[in-house]
Amino acid sequence: MRFMTAEPFRIKMVEKIKKTTKAERQEWLKEARYNVFQIKAENVYIDCITDSGTSAMSNEQWAALMLGDESYAGSKSFYKLQQSVQDLFGMPYVQPTHQGRAADFMMAKIYAKPGKYAIGNMHFDTFRGNAEVLGALVVDHLIDEGKDTASPPHPFKGNIDLKKMDKLIEEKGPENISVVMMTVTCNNNGGQPVSMQNIREASLLAKKHRIPFVIDAARMSENAYFIKKREDGYQNKSIKEITREMFSYCETAIMSSKKDGLVNIGGLFITRNAEVLKHAQQLAIVHEGYITYGGLAGRDLEALAVGLQEGADEQYLEYRINQVKYLGDRLREKGIPIIEPTGGHGVYVDGRRFFPHIPQHEFPSQRLVVALYEEAGVRAVELGACAFGSKDPTTGKDIFPEVEVMRIAISRRVYTNNHLDVIVSALGEIYEQREKYRGMKLVYEGPITSLRHFTAGFELLPAEE
Ligand SMILES: Cc1ncc(COP(=O)(O)O)c(C=O)c1O
Repeated sequence: MRFMTAEPFRIKMVEKIKKTTKAERQEWLKEARYNVFQIKAENVYIDCITDSGTSAMSNEQWAALMLGDESYAGSKSFYKLQQSVQDLFGMPYVQPTHQGRAADFMMAKIYAKPGKYAIGNMHFDTFRGNAEVLGALVVDHLIDEGKDTASPPHPFKGNIDLKKMDKLIEEKGPENISVVMMTVTCNNNGGQPVSMQNIREASLLAKKHRIPFVIDAARMSENAYFIKKREDGYQNKSIKEITREMFSYCETAIMSSKKDGLVNIGGLFITRNAEVLKHAQQLAIVHEGYITYGGLAGRDLEALAVGLQEGADEQYLEYRINQVKYLGDRLREKGIPIIEPTGGHGVYVDGRRFFPHIPQHEFPSQRLVVALYEEAGVRAVELGACAFGSKDPTTGKDIFPEVEVMRIAISRRVYTNNHLDVIVSALGEIYEQREKYRGMKLVYEGPITSLRHFTAGFELLPAEE
């Protein structure tokens, strides 16, 4: 007999969230110039702007906080964290950082070189930004199926295109490629996983040319769960066996601990290369703090040591991945166009297919974000023409991204499926009335185009007569 299963936890503490009226939300949207980043969190009913740093900690993590050793050097808590990291990654050395982007900075300082290529499946913004500032040429070679939101479901849409990677190495010469980096799961295209085979083959190709191979491991356990479920030969392996194999192929990894580490702040720089560790430690001392705390309090290190283990628990991962799938399935039943299959940390709604009458330069996904907040007090985020749009440096003309989506990110262990049903019913109603919506005009973007989605201001375009 097969029983239904539910969350593998019970709720011990609750946090009140506020229901507001549509008229109030319309007023707040106007004040925020239709940018939901500018809305106060207390005025959000269900917050799906990110899955980063928003997890609920467990009773064991809260208890571990009390054990925090706040010594400046050689803190006991550091050694607990080190043990937890070694257990999961199978790699010897770790440097904590205050959050993922500080580890990205170290990664870029060590592996990105001016005028040389950093190839990835799809680099996350904070590595890209750090590497570009250092003059590196940052290239994404995601497989085509991963770029097209309407492509048929594929088990590993986060894979790197090995042929394109090989071609670039041949064309430019291996001496002009400073690093190959794999992001697991691939945040920017829907939290889509990368297969073990792809990680192995990409690392072999890099090794053949003596190019360092590294991993951005923010959602490593979610990726491992997908490998277990979807890739032949992994069904009987534990999540830890899978994560250890994933990292056996790389020299160094970085992690924003705010995702699969199940903590609210923190990052990690992990390596098997003792020379690389020394370099990272020097950077930590200058930018983060002494090597055994790296910008975090001892209590943060304790919570992370426990959180990493909980994040790799198979029952937890089953609940987690299936909760995201639940939202995706309910939206699909209503005909709402999403990236399929659903990835690890959120559901991505295709703005152009949702509002086919709104051209990309009128920000269809941003319009959807605004509609969802206005109707239901739910906050999602645009990842499209505003977040990833850029300008041609010579002509000044707008360049629009291939992916145009609204991401509904699901925080870990925070919302119930009843909350997700609210999102489904609100989006369903907006979809039924989609023709009444018009696009938006960008009226302010701030000095740095690549960061404009945080501060941008918009106006709603008037309805046509
Ligand atoms: C894949 C990936 N790498 C790095 C980062 C940066 O981490 P943090 O926000 O902790 O600085 C993020 C954050 O969203 C991410 O998703």
